[in-house]
Amino acid sequence: MSISAETQLEVTGLSSGYGGITVLNNLGFEISKGEFVGILGHNGMGKTTLMRSLIGAVPARLGSITFLGTDITGFPPHKRNQLGIGYVPQGREIIKGLSVRENLLLGQAAHPGPSEYNTVLDLFPELVELLDRPASRLSGGQQQLLALGRCLMGKPKLLLLDEPTEGIQPSIVSDIGKTLSQLCDELGLTIVVVEQNLDFLCRLVNRNIILRGGKVIADLQGPDARDRALIESHLSLAH
Ligand SMILES: Nc1ncnc2c1ncn2[C@@H]1O[C@H](COP(=O)(O)OP(=O)(O)OP(=O)(O)O)[C@@H](O)[C@H]1O
Ligand SMILES: [Mg+2]
Repeated sequence: MSISAETQLEVTGLSSGYGGITVLNNLGFEISKGEFVGILGHNGMGKTTLMRSLIGAVPARLGSITFLGTDITGFPPHKRNQLGIGYVPQGREIIKGLSVRENLLLGQAAHPGPSEYNTVLDLFPELVELLDRPASRLSGGQQQLLALGRCLMGKPKLLLLDEPTEGIQPSIVSDIGKTLSQLCDELGLTIVVVEQNLDFLCRLVNRNIILRGGKVIADLQGPDARDRALIESHLSLAH
């Protein structure tokens, strides 16, 4: 199948899982450059497994993943990252024994070329006064900003975020939302975010994909993507 110039990510017939368990079951969608897409579904429906399959941490058992016209289905995570897929995992996974600065610099380790360090600090001025602080001494919200900043140090074209607002105070949730809008609108990044916070999601996205039983059961676009009642009615069917 040929893909249009605008298509950035194409997932076709993807199945993956763990041991004897199939989690994603013949799942497919296409995402265009510059879209801001939410991924919704109840606990255990496979949202994190989808993210981990896209980055190559969980192998595809069937199906394919194409990024910018290249079939990356068999590519290891570091190669996908070098091509421009950035990931901020659920739980953030920053290195707590390192300082904020060291965590940021780790994010550019595999990316030769000009550093994004100053750009990232411009995006997250909150981190500037924390640069020498051990990451273990940051609040949850500060850790999330650091995880996002570290990911951006690799200059991703596609940003995958897994529950960025989980356990974070409202003021920082709002900061994260503003930064993500800016990344999408001004810098042209494509963003795919798994999120349970519908208020947060509906302010940001132009599309919402709802998962159930390892498949896409709804793909809401345009105004539908921000319609809470419609989303909730799909989610109530998704148990
Ligand atoms: N490492 C693993 N080994 C075995 N089973 C796993 C593993 N990780 C997840 N699972 C199972 O796969 C299914 C999907 O899990 P996943 O973490 O993708 O769901 P999720 O939609 O992200 O859930 P949550 O909203 O709780 O984060 C669940 O049944 C889960 O128990
Ligand atoms: Mg999850």
